[in-house]
Amino acid sequence: MNIKDGVEKPSDGPVKKRWLRKPFGEKKMMLYLGSDHGGFALKQDIKTFLKKKNIAFQDLGTENEDSVDYPDYAQAVARKVAEKPSENRGILVCGTGIGMSIAANKVPGIRAAMIYDDYSAKMAHEHNDANVACFGGRTQKPHDVTRWIAIWLETPFAGDRHARRVHKISSIEKSGVKK
Ligand code: RB5
Repeated sequence: MNIKDGVEKPSDGPVKKRWLRKPFGEKKMMLYLGSDHGGFALKQDIKTFLKKKNIAFQDLGTENEDSVDYPDYAQAVARKVAEKPSENRGILVCGTGIGMSIAANKVPGIRAAMIYDDYSAKMAHEHNDANVACFGGRTQKPHDVTRWIAIWLETPFAGDRHARRVHKISSIEKSGVKK
């Protein structure tokens, strides 16, 4: 930690190149989508937006508004993203986005962020290197969500001290539960 007198100082070390990921679109990445019934309609709007923007994606379900369990779709998307966690990305939608983010974050390598405004969309990638974005089909509007997706995809990871923090998250994951 690099904190002096309660004020955070920039890291002394050089920026680690491998943490400076290119913005979405410059690399070959795949975007995986998933929703439950509560997020189905918003997922359809997201797909329309992605097609318009020519962004490649794969929809892993659900296919309609019949009641399903969100952890199944969170797991499906998270596992695909975790195959290449620095390249692939995921978008998960349930009623609130909360259940999806809780479930997706159980998969090692996943940093799922609940995005709720322009600033959180930017920070989710710039600071947290979030590889999964979660939204609420019953709480958020399609025109906001698609704008936030564009911001999240276009913002590069800042690296440097944020890389150190993301590393620490990975360490927590690796350490498991010590009894
Ligand atoms: C399903 O009714 C609802 O619980 C789900 O979509 C989600 O909001 C959970 O977090």
